[in-house]
Amino acid sequence: MPINKASLLVLESFVRQREGGKKLRLIFLGPPGSGKGTQASRLSQRFGIPQISTGAILREAVANKTELGIKAKEYMDKGELVSDDVIIGIICDRIVQTDCENGFILDGFPRTIVQAESFDRMVKEKNIPIDVVLSLDVSEEMVVRRLCGRLVCPECNVNYHLEFNPPKKKGVCSKCGGKLYHRPDDEEDVVRRRLKIYKETTEPLIGYYQQKGLLRVINGTETIESIFKQLVIVLEGM
Ligand code: AP5
Repeated sequence: MPINKASLLVLESFVRQREGGKKLRLIFLGPPGSGKGTQASRLSQRFGIPQISTGAILREAVANKTELGIKAKEYMDKGELVSDDVIIGIICDRIVQTDCENGFILDGFPRTIVQAESFDRMVKEKNIPIDVVLSLDVSEEMVVRRLCGRLVCPECNVNYHLEFNPPKKKGVCSKCGGKLYHRPDDEEDVVRRRLKIYKETTEPLIGYYQQKGLLRVINGTETIESIFKQLVIVLEGM
């Protein structure tokens, strides 16, 4: 059976991690639309470690109409944060699963100081230290433009953009063939509300992680490819 380039990269990184025992645990910070999901998904493939997106976990619960999903939908539709207890519980269960043994990429968590402090206690108890916190820096207007044009695949969670990163075939996921949709919280008024909440509640985490010496700020205004290359250099050097 032919092996494509992406599978080879994953295999190489798996072997490298197994041989060197190197683990990679990282957190993505940044406003909504800064490109966390886009880069986390690529890095997950590159390094063979799972992307843990709290937003995607919640959207799946909403789609399956679980108890968690019904509760979370109310907040998500308005662009507000789901309660700290619920989110901390999700992460606590997720990071101990076997696919996280070689590391993980947190995309969308933590989002509050309470979440970050709980997470610190959690990783200390389990002896799984975080290597780096990557903060993507973009302007507010760029975020609005990116989110208003975003399309998402409900099957594999890959993100596209009508203008900046279009799928090969209109409305269809280039990776898995899923039918792309526009997230309800990507309407401009909800995006502005999410940005306000980000500024008030999540942005203070930049200082929090800077003080711990874990923060790396990345210019998030460059192309997807160029940011990815920079991130790989940072992570390969760790
Ligand atoms: P979540 O899904 O995490 O949303 P978010 O943080 O607001 O982040 P986004 O997914 O909107 O943006 P992103 O940074 O991943 O950007 P992307 O790569 O897609 O959370 C949704 C909701 O769930 C929250 O509002 C909250 O209610 C709840 N929730 C989740 N986690 C929670 C927590 N920890 N606590 C409490 N509640 C929580 O890129 C955006 C677009 O731009 C795409 O179209 C992409 O193709 C394009 N793009 C990306 N990079 C570039 C580039 N360099 N150049 C041009 N275009 C680009």
